[in-house]
Amino acid sequence: MLSNVGTVLASYISHQRLHAEILLAHTLAVNRAHLHTYPEQILTSTQQSDFEKLMNRYISGEPMAYLTGCQAFWSMDLRVTSATLIPRPETELLVELALQISSDSKMIVADLGTGSGAVALALANERPDWDIYATDMSVDALWVAKKNAERLKINNILFSQGDWCDALPKHLFDIIVSNPPYVTIGDVHLAKSVYDYEPHAALFSRDNGLSDIRRIISRALNYLKPGAYLMLEHGFQQAEDVRILLAESGYVEIKTATDLAGLDRVTMGKKAIVIA
Ligand SMILES: C[S@@+](CC[C@H](N)C(=O)[O-])C[C@H]1O[C@@H](n2cnc3c(N)ncnc32)[C@H](O)[C@@H]1O
Repeated sequence: MLSNVGTVLASYISHQRLHAEILLAHTLAVNRAHLHTYPEQILTSTQQSDFEKLMNRYISGEPMAYLTGCQAFWSMDLRVTSATLIPRPETELLVELALQISSDSKMIVADLGTGSGAVALALANERPDWDIYATDMSVDALWVAKKNAERLKINNILFSQGDWCDALPKHLFDIIVSNPPYVTIGDVHLAKSVYDYEPHAALFSRDNGLSDIRRIISRALNYLKPGAYLMLEHGFQQAEDVRILLAESGYVEIKTATDLAGLDRVTMGKKAIVIA
């Protein structure tokens, strides 16, 4: 028997209710207010079966962002798929720090490992005068990032596929930002829903999570202007290791910034200016 909106929602206990509302609104392509305004609306059989499939996936632990296909980041609503990491609020710190490096002249900026395009799109949206290069190893993630740029009508990003700096053109950059994979393989604290559903290539890195960070630090020097910045997101217990790696490669003015939870989250360094 087909149900109406009110009956469907009443069957979910309170902690599931909000998510049930979001998924039902997504299925019906309406907003949540519509559900409360028209609780008597009868679902079609397709809507009822689509909604039940989504609820089953939710109950199995699949993140809401993959069920609805979207995630808020900065001031934008981004499309995400199982090929992309779900952008996290703490990554907005990378955007904030890059925007703080103000300059009247046009900046050339790279976002390595762009995923859904979150960081590159936020920077491009705030600074349409900057030239942004967004790269990823994953062709499928890059496709999502490009679609996000098209939908948001952002035109100042060039996307390219490849292994970290290898995907960049032979320019010198003012800022290189990256939120690379940094989770230690076998990390027992990682949430099951993250392990089960998010792309492992976006999460895990060898050498206690530092392998990709180490490679970016050494290669980025060839792509930064003297005095330009490399900014890296990392795990909250990796800041000291990242500072040491930056110092060993000759970066200067190395500092770590904390996220809204007060945890070490982004470490940056400047390419030294050598006076001949
Ligand atoms: C932690 S996710 C970050 C995604 C996005 N920047 C964000 O903050 O939501 C890391 C990204 O790096 C990409 N990646 C992994 N290894 C890479 C490599 N060797 N070269 C380039 N990108 C890589 C993954 O595909 C993934 O999109």
